Amino acid sequence: MWGGRFGEKPSDIMQAINASIDIDRRLWRQDIAGSKAHAAMLAAQGIITGDDAAKIQDGLDQIAAEIAAGAFVFDAALEDIHLNIEARLTERIGDAGKRLHTARSRNDQVATDFKLWTMAACDAAADAVRALQAALVTRAGDHADWIMPGFTHLQTAQPVTLGHHLLAYVEMFERDFMRLSGAAGAAGEGCPLGAAALAGTGFDIDRHMTAEALGFDGPAANSLDAVASRDFALQALAALSIAATHLSRLAEEIVLWTSPQFAFARLSDAWSTGSSIMPQKRNPDAAELIRAKAARITGAFASLSGILQKLPLAYAKDLQDDKAITFEAFDAFDLCTRAMTGMMETIAFDRAALRAAAARGYSTATDLADWLVRDLAMPFREAHHVTGAVVKRAEQAGVAELADLPLADFQAIEPRITEAARALLTVEQSAASRASLGGTAPVRVREQAALWRERLARESLDLETEE
Ligand code: ARG
Repeated sequence: MWGGRFGEKPSDIMQAINASIDIDRRLWRQDIAGSKAHAAMLAAQGIITGDDAAKIQDGLDQIAAEIAAGAFVFDAALEDIHLNIEARLTERIGDAGKRLHTARSRNDQVATDFKLWTMAACDAAADAVRALQAALVTRAGDHADWIMPGFTHLQTAQPVTLGHHLLAYVEMFERDFMRLSGAAGAAGEGCPLGAAALAGTGFDIDRHMTAEALGFDGPAANSLDAVASRDFALQALAALSIAATHLSRLAEEIVLWTSPQFAFARLSDAWSTGSSIMPQKRNPDAAELIRAKAARITGAFASLSGILQKLPLAYAKDLQDDKAITFEAFDAFDLCTRAMTGMMETIAFDRAALRAAAARGYSTATDLADWLVRDLAMPFREAHHVTGAVVKRAEQAGVAELADLPLADFQAIEPRITEAARALLTVEQSAASRASLGGTAPVRVREQAALWRERLARESLDLETEE
């Protein structure tokens, strides 16, 4: 493509480090859409003839069909997807193909393609997050009153409901959905096409026309910014990295919950792996790999940010390496969200084990202290002290749950403690009492699960009517 100035061919190693076709061939749809928009605009502006434009459109459609059919021969000597398609176009339609690159450069071309890809990838990732939320909401509704231990420091703290725990992730994923949608929107701002190599062009192009044809909100205002910037991809990776962090936390809980030590849950066969040597094992490999891939997704953000940090304006070839990182991260995320959705749809929780664990460690002690404050008007510090003494007595008596300690033992410490107070100390009562807004009580969880179900259903209905 630049043979005019060069006498020798590049060395093989030069070609190997320089070619990106194995990665960016994935942009073929975007590249063809961009070229079609560009050719139509060139013809509308009288820069190429209508006849040439028609040949280009037709040729590009045929190339799209070739690629879709797997019949296209990609050539590393042609470096990237842009040159591969352009060369094939000229091969097919002759001279008209050579006019396509008028008033553009691969610099604005690649930025345009990559923005289009990122928009779609963010939307797809947001959809995958929605599917996971739906699975979590269903399971939360089914387990609204299942009692489990709530932890701080991974030490049993207070009883909570499993539904509440699962809905906590629905909230996190909601913010991820918003961030990913925001990143899709950012990628759709400012079409780079027409920025040409870096400075714009002397041809009388219509950048509004191409921007609109490709679904951007308008043309990028500054040509240098248009070809040099990849913060749209960085923003997408930031959103993805945060979402992957949430996936990883949930994955970590699955690993803990399914261990024999916790035994809170069992993954279905479809989502477990065995050991080649230890027949008794059921391993949560998918959850573990989600943890690992989350780290790599965050690594993708760090890599791209490192690439951008030291680049003077405008384009530099470093920018070519933005795509492998971003593609890999989005592929990993897609796999991770789907695996998590599959696990969440089928994981079986053990109600008795969860309840027993919730009761261990006198997890309802705060409830007694609260009763002393509320019903006896005892200062909280004193209530804390009295409750501490009750816990000690339960421990000495070898009673597992405070609610099982005989009333006489309570009254030996504080004679005003009643049977009604003692009855409040079951894990069920404890969870039910936390009915404050956002609290763990089954009534609140059922409300929240219903709200989420409605909201997700309404949204998919809206989507259907839009389509
Ligand atoms: N393959 C290149 C990339 O992905 C396309 C742009 C090349 N531009 C250039 N001036 N060498 O960044």
